[in-house]
Amino acid sequence: LASTLPLPAPFAVPLPIPAVARPVRPGFYEVVQRPAKVEIVPGTTTEVWGFDGTFPGPTFDLRRGSRTVVRVRNELPVPTSTHLHGGVTPADSDGYPTDLVVAAGRGFRPTGGHSHAGMRVDPDQWTFHSGAREYVYPLEQRAATLWYHDHRMDFTGPQVWRGLAGFLLVRDDEDDALPLPKGDRDIPLMICDRAFDEDGAFRYPSLDPSLLVRAGVDDAYMEGVEGDVILVNGAPWPELEVDAARYRLRLLNASNARRYRLELHPGGRFVQVGSDAGLLAAPVEHDAITMAPAERFDVVVDFSAYPVGSRVTLVNTLGAGPARDVMRFRVARRAADDSAVPARLSRLEPVDRTAAVATRVFDFRKSGQWAGAWTINGKPFTPGTPLVRPRLGTTEVWRLTSDFHHPVHVHLAHFRVLTRNGKAPAATDGGWKDTVDLRPYEVIEVLVRFEGYRGRYMMHCHNLEHEDMAMMADIEVV
Ligand code: C2O
Ligand code: CU
Repeated sequence: LASTLPLPAPFAVPLPIPAVARPVRPGFYEVVQRPAKVEIVPGTTTEVWGFDGTFPGPTFDLRRGSRTVVRVRNELPVPTSTHLHGGVTPADSDGYPTDLVVAAGRGFRPTGGHSHAGMRVDPDQWTFHSGAREYVYPLEQRAATLWYHDHRMDFTGPQVWRGLAGFLLVRDDEDDALPLPKGDRDIPLMICDRAFDEDGAFRYPSLDPSLLVRAGVDDAYMEGVEGDVILVNGAPWPELEVDAARYRLRLLNASNARRYRLELHPGGRFVQVGSDAGLLAAPVEHDAITMAPAERFDVVVDFSAYPVGSRVTLVNTLGAGPARDVMRFRVARRAADDSAVPARLSRLEPVDRTAAVATRVFDFRKSGQWAGAWTINGKPFTPGTPLVRPRLGTTEVWRLTSDFHHPVHVHLAHFRVLTRNGKAPAATDGGWKDTVDLRPYEVIEVLVRFEGYRGRYMMHCHNLEHEDMAMMADIEVV
């Protein structure tokens, strides 16, 4: 989707760092989802729908095991549901798509279902909270780069596009004890693409721009919406001034549908230390990192490898034209650096497929039956009808097959990639993950561990337009 606004010059604005959320009292936070006018493209104004009116929303910087309650108040013209992506969260707080918060004083009558496919949702499946609700996050999980975003039934794509996303970092003693870069040299980077109208507004091909009645996008966007402006932490092609030292960069692909193959120009390597759900066992070096929507890569880049004064560009070699650049680092000065990347990072249990109590196949494919729908095992999303009922405390092997790029995401349960097309996993598939880059006609096997809580969760394609077009399913953990 092309912007009609003239594109801003690259590397002209500094990289913003989202504010850190402050608790109202220990363990209790309040955020307000509201519209706000912000300057994204210099000289123009964009209305975002943001947590606390910011895009990205505030970063929650929390510790493992610190039970946290977040009260989310909705002051937007649309209902919302907030999901903590990668969180091991009780089902009631997981942000189920039909479990909605509606702004106080605003009525909402769900039209029910995917307009494209003409399907309806059972009326009993909707729940509404008026004004605000509390989400409880026990955070009994390893240190990891998590993120939160809207998950409203049929409208996640346009609502995240308008800004409803932010970071939640879980820290723990194991991660803290490592000599990895810290403080100002530990930087979250939310990478996403957007398009802009000539008046500065976000451009998105919704069938119903009010996002109240009719779900879906123009048929031309069945494969997902990609913009021509790359934002990092909400700024177009920003620049970050860095010391000639190591930095930990927490890369998140928060795009609706765009995949990236990130490289450093004029050269350089990423040393991956963490994946979606926390530290790797040992660092892995990459010349390039391919990221599907919702994946995270914690990497260390050593800017002392470049002469002072150099400019190092993070490029996306899958992108064309302006979407080829992502951001730039300017190596400003020499500086002391006592960080290091140790040869061992964490103890990961061995991947043991013989521990699996079941093997299941999930096929991600365009519906042959309903125009405008994407399906899992031939079924469009039907809230309340679980596709699978795994037992708490067990592990299963899931074979994922597909007809297109479908980044497969599982709520609650983290997994390890066992095989990719019958061979070893890709170098970027390592560690505990919650999202895997399933490409056209591939077969991926993952070992999924159901731990934490019983109740209703989901799996889905994290191409947000596919998600909105029914490529989702209930998982009932029993
Ligand atoms: Cu990041 Cu079900 O989502
Ligand atoms: Cu998909």
